[in-house]
Amino acid sequence: MRIRGYTKQDEAGAYAVCLQTGDAGADATRLYDDPRALGDIYVGPYLSLEPELSLVLEDTEGVCGYCLGALDTPRFFGRLLAEWLPLLQELHPEPSGDPKSWTATQRLRRELHHPDLFYPEPIADYPSHMHIDLLPRAQGQGWGRRMVEELESRLRTRGSPGVHLGMWARNERAFRFYTKLGFREITRVGEGDRASLYLGKRL
Ligand SMILES: CC(C)(COP(=O)(O)OP(=O)(O)OC[C@H]1O[C@@H](n2cnc3c(N)ncnc32)[C@H](O)[C@@H]1OP(=O)(O)O)[C@@H](O)C(=O)NCCC(=O)NCCS
Repeated sequence: MRIRGYTKQDEAGAYAVCLQTGDAGADATRLYDDPRALGDIYVGPYLSLEPELSLVLEDTEGVCGYCLGALDTPRFFGRLLAEWLPLLQELHPEPSGDPKSWTATQRLRRELHHPDLFYPEPIADYPSHMHIDLLPRAQGQGWGRRMVEELESRLRTRGSPGVHLGMWARNERAFRFYTKLGFREITRVGEGDRASLYLGKRL
């Protein structure tokens, strides 16, 4: 396996990793009738807007993981609104009717029109943010640590003083991983199983 910078040919593989780890770390394929719906929110914007902070993990079968970063979160969100979301909004109009009848894909498509642009304050402490997902065959062998360390080094080189990330509180395995790497809880939004945790690390 090796870690390398993203190239355009990796897009389909990165979207597949996102779907196969998209249910709090477990396979979300059965949940979405459109396999691109998750990646359009969690992967595509990074590959398109922050290619130099997009790392992929590759083995002989293809892309088996990624670690994606944004240097300056408020600036990234501004570009998301101006450059990425308009294209997707045109392709996927906002779903109508009773939200209770929407499919999981429709609920995600709604997010294209009402994006979650939350970041933990004070943002100047942890202005960058990141996502990491590895397929099961790549997990538990130190690749996650190596990828996060490579991304941290790229962020530090570009002058970032800190990085944050958001995760489902119920993804306990990921929480233990991030804690081991030096991340600490900054804030929590929501309660119980549906809560999102925001963790941060100074660089
Ligand atoms: C979470 C994830 C990125 C971790 O990557 P990984 O390659 O499996 O983790 P590593 O092998 O690099 O482990 C790094 C360190 O974390 C520790 N660690 C990893 N998983 C752990 C766990 N479940 N419990 C305790 N420690 C854990 C390891 O022991 C290791 O410690 P060490 O470096 O001191 O020996 C990966 O398992 C994954 O992608 N899971 C599915 C998707 C997901 O949940 N993504 C996060 C969404 S927020």
